Amino acid sequence: MEVNDGYSEGYVRANRELWNNSASDYVDAGYEGWLDNSPKWGVFQIPETEVGLLKEFQGGDVLELGCGTAYVSAWLARRNGNPIGIDNSPAQLATAASFQKEFKLEFPLIFGNAESLPFNDESFDFAISEYGASIWCDPYRWIPEAARVLRPGGRLVAFGNSVLLVLCQDWETQEEFETEEKLLQSQFGMFQFEDLADNSVEFHISHGEQIQLFRSCGFEVEDLIEIKPPVGTEETKYPFVDLEWASKWPAEEAWIVRKK
Ligand SMILES: C[S@@+](CC[C@H](N)C(=O)[O-])C[C@H]1O[C@@H](n2cnc3c(N)ncnc32)[C@H](O)[C@@H]1O
Repeated sequence: MEVNDGYSEGYVRANRELWNNSASDYVDAGYEGWLDNSPKWGVFQIPETEVGLLKEFQGGDVLELGCGTAYVSAWLARRNGNPIGIDNSPAQLATAASFQKEFKLEFPLIFGNAESLPFNDESFDFAISEYGASIWCDPYRWIPEAARVLRPGGRLVAFGNSVLLVLCQDWETQEEFETEEKLLQSQFGMFQFEDLADNSVEFHISHGEQIQLFRSCGFEVEDLIEIKPPVGTEETKYPFVDLEWASKWPAEEAWIVRKK
């Protein structure tokens, strides 16, 4: 494992501590991801055939931003990609490295901050984040970095909680795990959300600001996929949202953007 600690704000350290402490809880899910070569996304494990995040993927040099256990990189390696995974948590990367050995599929795993990438300009054809940089990094830092390291024509896919879901959670009283059927947050000014229990920090901005940010970084927005669990989807094991809520409103969303 290569080491690049890079530039670290307080929230980067807090998020590293969170993921180092919770890495053991994500080993089983990571193993399932490595084992099953049919991509399934997010907390409801929706099949790629329903979501289409990889429909334009044609292989090439790939960067996974906040790779965690790196099953997404493994899927892309098996589809003609040459992935590199970067993550802020040595414990998560250790899990990923153990799966690489077990599944005999090796690619570089870098310890670092996705807001400050240790790669040359225009080094990648495709970048992706599933609940990695897409929610744990400052969008005004990581999206310009993703734009910098992508080649012209390269795509970025960013998957995470929907804006609507975050607006329906009560972060101030730490009841964020109960997504309600009413708006509890202001959309104007939404940006940084701290979990007061462990000081970890997520970032969520409005769709309008997200579009402005992508465009200012030289991206063309190709799609915003609002995820609806198909009939037959099982209840999620994650406590912050349930299938009933997610069947009425998008709980998760994915941006697909292309560098001009
Ligand atoms: C929910 S996991 C998502 C990764 C992968 N899809 C998985 O489930 O294993 C979130 C990951 O983002 C990483 N992360 C958080 N902040 C980061 C940062 N600033 N730079 C790189 N990775 C970061 C965490 O360490 C964690 O491994």
